Amino acid sequence: MRIHVADHPLVAHKLTLLRDEQTESPTFRRLADELVTLLAYEATRDVRTEPRTVQTPVAEAVGVRLSSPRPLVVPILRAGLGMLEGMQRLLPTAEVGFLGMIRDEATLAASTYAERLPSDLAGRQCYLLDPMLATGGTLAAAIQFLVARGADQITAVCLLAAPEGIGRVERELTALDVPITLVTAAVDECLNDKGYIVPGLGDAGDRLYGVAG
Ligand code: URA
Repeated sequence: MRIHVADHPLVAHKLTLLRDEQTESPTFRRLADELVTLLAYEATRDVRTEPRTVQTPVAEAVGVRLSSPRPLVVPILRAGLGMLEGMQRLLPTAEVGFLGMIRDEATLAASTYAERLPSDLAGRQCYLLDPMLATGGTLAAAIQFLVARGADQITAVCLLAAPEGIGRVERELTALDVPITLVTAAVDECLNDKGYIVPGLGDAGDRLYGVAG
């Protein structure tokens, strides 16, 4: 897996505010949205394009447009939804699919409870949105799901990642013949015994949307 840690003062500034426990949900949502747009810029560096010529008021100009099929953006429910608008700001014509994954808080194992995705992802570049790459179980399962549908390039956009999660995704996906990239704002120190990233930012879903039971 190729790992890109976005090294930019604005990323660090926004991430620090997100980490602050004093930051309340409305501000947290806005900051997460802004941070994702910065990460999306890095994540889309190798989005596929094809040549296109346009007529300027002066002359012909050779440029590019996004290739078909369009990229697919897949937020992992629920917390990934808080990243969708920030990603769509840079990729407004991308299609959006949804993957509902939940982790068992006792075993930390991930399972799929909902999906709304094209049945055939052959030739698609996919962008998975999941704020926290913690144990790696959810992301590894989501990547396997997309690859089983035919996705041929997957970029995971995560606000934060833990070394344990990166290690697990790399171990579980070594056999896959599909390029996987992780774009994140930071790789933190470790996980605690509850599977939370340290220092992290707490429960991303709760901080985005409150504790909904
Ligand atoms: N999920 C979260 O929301 N936060 C963590 O620290 C780990 C998993």
